[in-house]
Amino acid sequence: MPDRYPIAVIGGDGIGPEVVEAELAVLQATGLAFDFTHYPAGDDHQARTGQAMPAETIAGAQAARAVVFGAAGASAAEVIIRLRSELGTYVNLRPSRAYPGVACLRPETDLYIVRENTECLYVGDERAESPERAYATRLITAEASTRIARWAFEYAAAGGFRKVTAAHKANVLKVTDGLFLDCCRRVAAEFPGIELEEALVDSLAMRLVLEPGQFGVVVTTNLFGDILSDLAAGLIGGLGMCPSANLGDEHALFEPVHGSAPDLAGSGKANPSAAILCGAMLLDYLGEKEAASRVTGALERCLAEGETTGDLGGSLSTMEMARAVIERMG
Ligand code: NAI
Ligand code: MG
Repeated sequence: MPDRYPIAVIGGDGIGPEVVEAELAVLQATGLAFDFTHYPAGDDHQARTGQAMPAETIAGAQAARAVVFGAAGASAAEVIIRLRSELGTYVNLRPSRAYPGVACLRPETDLYIVRENTECLYVGDERAESPERAYATRLITAEASTRIARWAFEYAAAGGFRKVTAAHKANVLKVTDGLFLDCCRRVAAEFPGIELEEALVDSLAMRLVLEPGQFGVVVTTNLFGDILSDLAAGLIGGLGMCPSANLGDEHALFEPVHGSAPDLAGSGKANPSAAILCGAMLLDYLGEKEAASRVTGALERCLAEGETTGDLGGSLSTMEMARAVIERMG
């Protein structure tokens, strides 16, 4: 275990730097030694320099033990999608868990969306054939599909889940999602104790709203994972509650599911819970399990006691809520 953890911090745009400040304060309060190095990226940096994602930021992210990210605005594709690719983080793990005390649609929700993070329509290969006709390429490979399916099954095995739900649209996208599903089936055969449930993504979207308690680990391709994870956020009280981890073999980047929320930026009203939960996921990744559960426990107590920001019905500012979490960390 290193004495100090070198962490690259990319606050980005809008509420990104605000929720990251709350997250870093909570991480400092664990008593562990972090070296936080801040790097620029995003719309503001682009407006100043012409570049949304400077090479210095990519190099800093690659050199660090892990990356803490806030949000990007309109330049999200150049910033976060580029970072995921440069860091080789092929998994995007997006937990959506309902917390006691948080008014929400479906308090039984406890979902772990495992989103393929490198291909699908997110390869960004679009072209206009004429002003009236445009194409996008949806790339699905056996390599990436097998890798994400195996990661999801291993995650399910480690967490004691008895099934993995694969969300697909193979009835229409027979070739691409057919390949994804075949890979899921082959991987499932390696895990006899875990059922593979195959679910059409549209019908799954409805079932997630009606009976989210029937689902745990959901593995899917990039775009479906993006959409389903915002749906899952809606079940548990909104985007302010959803963290995510981008994980690869060598790097990890932790970011809230939400974006830069221009409607809230600068008001001090952003809910820091998603970012603080990102901090707990980072601690877990570093092997600091005890610190991770101290952070999660303290946040849970805040939420249960109504010590929250306005989106959850409380009256605290972003940093006041961070301090309320820190007070409860013991
Ligand atoms: P958004 O996630 O920024 O906001 C959607 C809604 O949720 C807004 O009403 C916002 O106020 C609310 N919200 C989000 N985070 C919150 C928080 N922490 N506390 C309380 N309420 C919160 O998504 P939107 O509005 O679609 O996009 C805004 C910008 O963010 C766009 O420029 C988009 O490109 C970018 N974006 C960036 C992402 C990233 O950096 N990973 C992800 C999603 C969007
Ligand atoms: Mg999204």
